[in-house]
Amino acid sequence: MNKGILITAALALAASVALAQHKVPVKLPAAEPGQYEHVAPTLEQLQEDDSIHPELRKAIMRGYDLFMNTQQLRGKHVFNDMNCVSCHMGEGRMAWSAPLWPTMTTLPDYRGKNWQVNSVEDRVIGCFSFSMNGIPPDYDSDIMVALLAYQQWTARGAPVYDWNIAGRGFGKVADPPKAPDYQRGEKVFADNCALCHGADGQGQYVDGVMQFPSLWGDRSYNWGAGMSRVDTAAAFIKYNMPLGQPGRLSDQDAWDVAYFISAQERPQDPRYEKSARYTREKYNNFHSRTLYGTIVNGRVLGEHVNTGEKPILMPEALSRKRVFD
Ligand code: HEC
Ligand code: HEC
Repeated sequence: MNKGILITAALALAASVALAQHKVPVKLPAAEPGQYEHVAPTLEQLQEDDSIHPELRKAIMRGYDLFMNTQQLRGKHVFNDMNCVSCHMGEGRMAWSAPLWPTMTTLPDYRGKNWQVNSVEDRVIGCFSFSMNGIPPDYDSDIMVALLAYQQWTARGAPVYDWNIAGRGFGKVADPPKAPDYQRGEKVFADNCALCHGADGQGQYVDGVMQFPSLWGDRSYNWGAGMSRVDTAAAFIKYNMPLGQPGRLSDQDAWDVAYFISAQERPQDPRYEKSARYTREKYNNFHSRTLYGTIVNGRVLGEHVNTGEKPILMPEALSRKRVFD
């Protein structure tokens, strides 16, 4: 098959599974008794709601547009191929795909990643700095206000400061029977993921426009991103991939393929100091769950000065607030 046909086939498959997404019963974890389950309002509801001031509606729509097509900030705030929706799927509204709304009902809150109370803006700045391998917009910028306005809209109707929430984050996958394994993961990848993400994991493009995102390398998230934790990737994959077929992979397969992806190179962690091993130790609360600074296939992962397309290592927003000291 030539590449054009492959992409067309993959796109057709993706479109059909995406369409089917809301109809086919998918195997996602059930809510526990007493947990709040939220149905985030849609954009159609936004258009119909007369109580929303037209200027606010505009801001929400701009936030939605930025969230879906974050590439419009490429070269300024974003230095890889990701859009926010690449990981927060279904418009950031889906349970077990780190939906946006709980942030708006439970933050500010304490966070172990940086040992301090985080605002909603801090979380968005975190995803820009790590997941988008970027330089975050200012706290009071129009971009931030728009993104938060959209997030706030998705939280409409949810109770404030209720932490007993179903489907927050990406969930957890039970420890696998066998320790995660690179070779097994490579095979799971070839059988289930390469069709869309490419045999080399570098995604697929039509006329230079990303259709399927890369999973590692310069166009992907960096070593400080939450997705670089093997357990987080395993959960994301288990409940969201292959696209349109959440819950299809066994726990073992999800862990193995997450391990395989997490053992590939990606842009440097913006918190890098001295060496990957030193940085791993310093941020051990985070990196104990990644493979960064460890030896896989005879090489120390993350031991390089490559920041991808991003021209600097640490964005000022991280150092100014000393968020990670
Ligand atoms: C490479 C994947 C990835 C991309 C791209 C990404 N995020 Fe995230 N995001 C994560 C992970 C991982 C978490 C942490 C989830 C957890 O703690 O379980 C997260 C958490 C969040 C949270 C907090 C969710 C909660 O429940 O408190 C918000 C808000 C957020 N991201 C916003 C954004 C925005 C806005 C963008 C685009 C600028 C973005 N993210 C891009 C992976 C990503
Ligand atoms: C039918 C096509 C398709 C298949 C098959 C598929 N994916 Fe994806 N994947 C996508 C798309 C599309 C996105 C971005 C979601 C969006 O933009 O709505 C994505 C996003 C991701 C992401 C988060 C973003 C990033 O680039 O890191 C990861 C990780 C991922 N997929 C892993 C996998 C793994 C592992 C498999 C195999 C088990 C797999 N995918 C199979 C289409 C696919």
